[in-house]
Amino acid sequence: MTQYQRLGVNIDHVATIRNARGGACPDPVRAAKIAVASGADGITAHLREDRRHIRDEDISALSDEIAQPLNLEMAATMEMLSIALRHKPHAACIVPEKREEVTTEGGLDAAGRYNYLAPIVGQLVDAGIRVSLFIEADPRQLDAAVALGVPVVELHTGRYAYLEGDAQQAELDRIITGAAHAATIGLECHAGHGLTFDNVAPIAAIESVAELNIGHFLIGEAIFGGLDSTIKRMRTLMDNARADALGARRT
Ligand code: PXP
Repeated sequence: MTQYQRLGVNIDHVATIRNARGGACPDPVRAAKIAVASGADGITAHLREDRRHIRDEDISALSDEIAQPLNLEMAATMEMLSIALRHKPHAACIVPEKREEVTTEGGLDAAGRYNYLAPIVGQLVDAGIRVSLFIEADPRQLDAAVALGVPVVELHTGRYAYLEGDAQQAELDRIITGAAHAATIGLECHAGHGLTFDNVAPIAAIESVAELNIGHFLIGEAIFGGLDSTIKRMRTLMDNARADALGARRT
């Protein structure tokens, strides 16, 4: 088991608050710097087609000012492809995007959109960008990711996050099975969406999940506890969940 699990902090919603009033405050780059100083292993930002939070200038500034890996979340469009090829972030996570949605709903249909995605993925990979696909923990989608030649998948934990009781456990089991399948077929596995202090532990404990990407909860909780201590607490919860899981496997 990879004991250490990376934490990518998504700073989109710092930009959401900034955009509510226009101007420059709060500054997503300042948040990214605090995130890195507080233990984030990378910064994630989603440049949406409608620019509702992160804007093009933010991607330029993050690329210029943050030394840690930048993970650009992007829809598979020609516009986003050319932006990614211009900035060459460390990683690009291809997400499904609908203009009318509040947040990314459901995973990318990598299997159904294979022919459309293949040339886009190919150009990103050829540019040296570590491409991941944001998908449901569905063996068909995982197999399509391998066929598309991506090294990484990010499993969508949104459904797990919003369900309760037995339904949540069933979704967790699906994610655990999916993560194991991903490892078997040679994919690096990440996970994210809707994760909080209360629900992160079972996901952090999954052996083959090498990275979590967390945004909305951290930025919201930072209002009460500060970004620095909120990220540190999340880091501790992840580390504890992994240490417990490792201990349980040894006994
Ligand atoms: N991973 C991906 C691919 C996402 O699209 C998002 C949301 O932008 C996240 C992780 C983070 O989700 P949340 O903001 O709910 O923590």
